[in-house]
Amino acid sequence: MDAMKQLMENNQAWAKRIEKEQPGFFEHLSEQQTPEYLWIGCADSRVSANEIVNLPPGEIFVHRNIANVVVHTDLNCLSVIQYAIEVLQVKHIIVCGHYGCGGVKAALEKKDHGLIDNWLRHIRDVYRYHSEQLDAIADPKARNDRLCELNVIEQVSNVCNTTMVKKAWRRKQTLSVHGWIYRLEDGLIQDLDITVSGN
Ligand code: CO
Repeated sequence: MDAMKQLMENNQAWAKRIEKEQPGFFEHLSEQQTPEYLWIGCADSRVSANEIVNLPPGEIFVHRNIANVVVHTDLNCLSVIQYAIEVLQVKHIIVCGHYGCGGVKAALEKKDHGLIDNWLRHIRDVYRYHSEQLDAIADPKARNDRLCELNVIEQVSNVCNTTMVKKAWRRKQTLSVHGWIYRLEDGLIQDLDITVSGN
């Protein structure tokens, strides 16, 4: 079957199943969204936000890019953060990285990847901040995995330093920022225990 046709059929079957299980689900959801979470994750097809925490549509506001990077000049990401905090009033922002991230791996390679190298520079910066610790890890996979963790930690810090988050905390809005990492091999998320809840 034509691949696009298959997707349309999948969609119809899915909508029918949800409506059967929860009559009025879509009509109710079409009126408003009140998610409590903003998810900032990697664009990797294996790390789909709703699925790995088993939440239906309407529960998570999502921003994904290559290697879950939060850049202070990225209007796309900043707009998502602003909307999530000021309009949706999410209570939690979760930065979720993953081990074995291709973006993180590519950032450490010497070869030319084209345009994307400009984006991956941000990961190289994270590497530079922690090069002593990372260079001491002999196993390349373990080194990459540690950089994946350090990248999440760095991006949590970047989220906390956005003007929107600072303002939210100043006006005592309930908001926590969390750093998580997902393992492709077992489908499990690990909390990096770096939650920040205001300052
Ligand atoms: Co990735």
